[in-house]
Amino acid sequence: MSKIALVTGISGQDGSYLAEFLLAKGYEVHGMMRRTSTKSSGRIDHLKDKFTLHEGDLLDSTSLTRLLEQVRPDEVYNLAAQSFVPVSWEQPIFTSEVTGLGVTRMLDAVLHVDKSTRFYQASSSEMFGKVRESPQSEATPFYPRSPYGVAKAYGHHITVNYRESYGMYACSGILFNHESPRRGLEFVTRKIANAVARIKLGLDEELRLGNLDAKRDWGHARDYVRAMWMMLQQDAPDDYVVGTGEMHSVREFVEIAFDHVGLDWQEYVVVDPKFYRPAEVDQLLANPTKAREKLGWVPKVTFEELVREMVDKDLDGLATKKPLDMKLKVA
Ligand code: NAP
Ligand code: GDD
Repeated sequence: MSKIALVTGISGQDGSYLAEFLLAKGYEVHGMMRRTSTKSSGRIDHLKDKFTLHEGDLLDSTSLTRLLEQVRPDEVYNLAAQSFVPVSWEQPIFTSEVTGLGVTRMLDAVLHVDKSTRFYQASSSEMFGKVRESPQSEATPFYPRSPYGVAKAYGHHITVNYRESYGMYACSGILFNHESPRRGLEFVTRKIANAVARIKLGLDEELRLGNLDAKRDWGHARDYVRAMWMMLQQDAPDDYVVGTGEMHSVREFVEIAFDHVGLDWQEYVVVDPKFYRPAEVDQLLANPTKAREKLGWVPKVTFEELVREMVDKDLDGLATKKPLDMKLKVA
């Protein structure tokens, strides 16, 4: 019999890759999406005949309980969140409600419907914030620098607490930045890739960015959803840091992306303080030793391959005039 998985946030970047991954493994896949006034399922439309989509919201406990009672999953992947860091200063309460308390709502629903369901929580390297040591491992103390980071730290601790209080199989995956051509246009990597493609095609003349010195450990989302699944296949639940162990600056990302299409980035990039953050996370670098040794997880896509894939996909999309990307230019 196929295993049954329920994925919250299935319409997001990771949700779409995880759905593809689980379907390829033979799972019966169910996804939860919140109701929106316009369609937001672009990343999963190509899968629509292969899985079941349900409406539900992390703000509404009853929707979660009903969904679990209906689907009876073996595994729950809780990927839904308000995930854009700058918005978390503008909407700190909403971010806490969805990204923080939403985890308790989901965990508590699992506990009451069927506590043998395996649970994955999408935790984040943003919890390390103003890093206490480098690289960061499972033992590194948290120092979040945004309301989003604080909400994720809450989500992490409540996951560990439900595991220890009720013996649930609940894992927290502390994932470092992971990107792809499906990344939202407001995140820096996709913003750069999309702008490079637009400039190359004569649709734009400049790219306005904030802090070019920020450094991140960037990997490919397809590699990272594999790690999520691996965490739920172990004998015992645990928490894992997932990253490449390599760090690059925003400036390096920009250089490689412009280079790839034969342009000099310095002619197009304008630093705009509008994109500075009230408190910055200057650098993040993973120590993924535990994931490598216990899960056997290693990333397959290199940094340069990731940058080039993102630029090429945006070039393709714009050249074939996919209306979504033509219209959506980030201010
Ligand atoms: P994403 O593209 O922003 O996807 C987030 C998903 O959550 C979307 O499907 C969104 O739906 C859904 N959502 C938002 N609020 C909701 C609510 N109240 N109820 C139900 N669904 C809701 O994020 P991602 O990059 O795929 O990341 C997946 C998860 O991993 C997130 O929890 C993120 O915080 C975490 N994470 C991401 C990274 C990374 O580098 N990508 C690293 C560490 C952790 P809409 O389409 O309706 O907005
Ligand atoms: N978004 C954005 N836009 N970021 C910029 C810009 C810009 O114009 N210019 C410079 N940056 C810098 C930011 O200041 C930050 O230091 C870095 O680029 C990365 O920003 P984002 O791509 O927005 O990602 P993030 O690191 O803040 O958060 C992402 O990764 C987390 C894991 O560490 C998100 O996916 C989070 O949901 C995730 O938890």
